[in-house]
Amino acid sequence: MTTTQPNAAAGLGEIDRSGGRVAVGDKAMINARADVNQLLPLKYGWAWEKYLAGCNNHWMPTEISMQADIALWKSADGLSADERLLLKRNLGFFATAESLVANNIVLAVYRHITNPECRQYLLRQAFEEAVHTHTFQYICESLGLDEGELFNMYREIPSIADKDAWALQYTRSLEDPDFATGSTEADQAFLRDLVAFYVIFEGMWFYTGFAQILALGRRNKMVGIAEQYQYILRDESIHLNFGIDCINQIKLENPHLWTEEFQAEVRRMLAEACELEIAYGRDTMPRGLLGINAELCAQYMHFITNRRCAQLGLEPVFPETDNPFPWMSEAMDLKKEKNFFETRVIEYQSGGSLQWD
Ligand SMILES: [Fe+2]
Ligand SMILES: [Fe+2]
Repeated sequence: MTTTQPNAAAGLGEIDRSGGRVAVGDKAMINARADVNQLLPLKYGWAWEKYLAGCNNHWMPTEISMQADIALWKSADGLSADERLLLKRNLGFFATAESLVANNIVLAVYRHITNPECRQYLLRQAFEEAVHTHTFQYICESLGLDEGELFNMYREIPSIADKDAWALQYTRSLEDPDFATGSTEADQAFLRDLVAFYVIFEGMWFYTGFAQILALGRRNKMVGIAEQYQYILRDESIHLNFGIDCINQIKLENPHLWTEEFQAEVRRMLAEACELEIAYGRDTMPRGLLGINAELCAQYMHFITNRRCAQLGLEPVFPETDNPFPWMSEAMDLKKEKNFFETRVIEYQSGGSLQWD
């Protein structure tokens, strides 16, 4: 299957009628010359397993009743002013963050991943990001929120704009039609994008937001939204683990990319991203509420950042710290929560072996 045609790696080259059949050993994460249309023979079982797990976890936001949330949102004294601010800024971050992640998959990552197992998962993930964006449309419509306000926070609220602008710089270099992997510099740029989106965006920045909404849910407030966030969290934990597996597999296949210098750069990226998240925490929670506050969220982010370092095989960025929200791991287990939310739950079928924080 060797060919030198441009776009051959992307899958858009001419069909090579004379090449030999694809062998497992021909497959690679990046820069493979193997035919990206041939799922079998399977090499990356972990990617295929995540595709199956994603399919088994299928859900739609409209399956969840919003009646209790609507009543609470519309009642004059149902929520405090601080709770309303937290909710709106939280929704405002996620409403556009989901599509930024989707753009990165479709416009940047997919083209440069050169095996069909990972591409199969990316197609599933892209649909899940569409479901997540749908969730924020559904919440906005159900509660009668100001859609202009919600969907423009990524431009108008500095702590949200700062995060999104930081991540976009990594996708932008890959979106360039002239960008191609194959050199150390370009392959490291691709790794940077995976770190920025999978490890940081989905694996760090979503987690303050999850903790905030689940803190509301624990107090029986906005339980429909809290349930939707549980489903999103379940999906995102697989997205994160897929990203970690991709990065670690690329490292394994291309050890020359993972230099001491590059490792130091990744640690710096995580530390910077942590600071951006702490600023967002202050913006969403000027005062403590619901048993959480900006300081505890900062500690939680330090804990999560160190955990992500460990998953990438890096030294921690911060001194060892305890998880201030131990209830988060319980809240992530939908089976345990079904009595609490007293609503329909789709059994969690296949992520039991995943590690969540
Ligand atoms: Fe998402
Ligand atoms: Fe995601």
